[in-house]
Amino acid sequence: MSWTRKHLLTIEELSLDEINQIHATASAFKKILGRNVKKVPALRGKTIVNLFLEPSTRTRMAFDMAAKRLSADVISVDAATSSTTKGETLRDTAQNIQALNADMLIIRHSASGSPLYLSRILDIPVINAGDGAHEHPTQGLLDTFTMKEHFGSLKGRKVVILGDILFSRVARSNIHALTKLGAAVTLVGPSTLVPHSFRDLGATVSHDLKTALADAEVVMLLRIQHERQSSSHFPSLGEYTSMFGLNKARAEWLHPKAIIMHPGPINRGVEIDSDLADGSRSVILEQVSNGIAVRMAVLYLCSGGIPEQAIAGA
Ligand code: CP
Repeated sequence: MSWTRKHLLTIEELSLDEINQIHATASAFKKILGRNVKKVPALRGKTIVNLFLEPSTRTRMAFDMAAKRLSADVISVDAATSSTTKGETLRDTAQNIQALNADMLIIRHSASGSPLYLSRILDIPVINAGDGAHEHPTQGLLDTFTMKEHFGSLKGRKVVILGDILFSRVARSNIHALTKLGAAVTLVGPSTLVPHSFRDLGATVSHDLKTALADAEVVMLLRIQHERQSSSHFPSLGEYTSMFGLNKARAEWLHPKAIIMHPGPINRGVEIDSDLADGSRSVILEQVSNGIAVRMAVLYLCSGGIPEQAIAGA
């Protein structure tokens, strides 16, 4: 199957074959990242613009690194230093970036749907690096890539996502990816943050932590996304931690071979205890590292790269 998409906007719109194709291409690039010379000329002569209008550490740096490993030129623009602070619209900013001859635009924005909007007005590929509470497709792709590295097929695997599901773009992208890959997804947290409507996406909804964690092979923690909440959804952070924080005793309920994941940033001592975040079951930093190869795959494929060539070259 050849890759036909110009943009990466959501995981919801990807087929299972497309997800597997991105993962296979990422595996090939991961091998290249293990070599002495970690660079390939695939995007030489191309200019990629990283437009991050919301804060980021991991995603922005991983896209930057991925573009450089593919030999592209990269320009990063953030909210504080862009003319959006002077009232310029997103449309004008994006059209100016295109007029400056960029070959691809990576966008993080607080408004859901902004990458789709830009994909409709620009001629260049648009990559969603997180839009509001909607989707964070490369995060879902790197999370499922990391799970596949540990378990092989995800068919029938019990994956629990614990925390603030309602306001999480990471949760939505992971639910779409995991259900397509055949995993059994359980969402757990307070009922105010884990509404029953998520059943419509093919996940099981639970508000009972012990039952949800029982025999889970993967638990993914999510922080409380205060920046997207206009009112409090539980009495206090302390109460949240006492009811739903992952600690050593609660981690005993998991499958003996379970891995612990978190997309970051972590709020230590709130959704996860430090000894678990830094412990032997944690794959949190593996997720971060895998973010480079997965984003290399996305940039390469959306620029018209041929997957078989990346795989053969690894
Ligand atoms: N996981 C994630 O999106 O982290 P950043 O906000 O640091 O990019």
